[in-house]
Amino acid sequence: MKTTTIKNVSILDIPKIIDSQRRGNLCVIENKVLPYKVERVYYLFDVPSDASRGGHSHIACHEFLVAISGSFDVIVKDGKNTKTVTLNKPDKGLLIVDGIWRELDNFSSGAVCLVLASEKYNEEDYIREYASFLESK
Ligand code: TYD
Repeated sequence: MKTTTIKNVSILDIPKIIDSQRRGNLCVIENKVLPYKVERVYYLFDVPSDASRGGHSHIACHEFLVAISGSFDVIVKDGKNTKTVTLNKPDKGLLIVDGIWRELDNFSSGAVCLVLASEKYNEEDYIREYASFLESK
């Protein structure tokens, strides 16, 4: 049984280097920013504003989501409670631990969702049916 809750889902600051000569900002995600070693990086882009992504939980994988451009909403559920987090800053990310249902929607034009995952892609790590997710909790 997975005991993680949405209290374990948190916004983390990404260290930002502001250029002294006004050449723009630079954000760095090193291993010390995240409580796991990054095994995989992927990103969602060109998502229509009426589309929904996610709709699953992971058995073992932890993910860190960053709106490196634009904005979108992330709805997280633990089977008892739900919260919606709007990601719209490239220097803040949402850490979603294992055993949490997530849905992503309301993508703005040009939004890019960067995901840093703790595990290699493995379809067996997904729970894609909400009823099965509830059973796993
Ligand atoms: P899916 O998990 O449905 O996307 P999302 O949860 O973001 O809406 O993945 C879409 C497809 O991409 C699905 O066929 C699995 C595949 N995929 C990979 O091959 N590797 C990956 O790392 C990811 C995240 C997905």
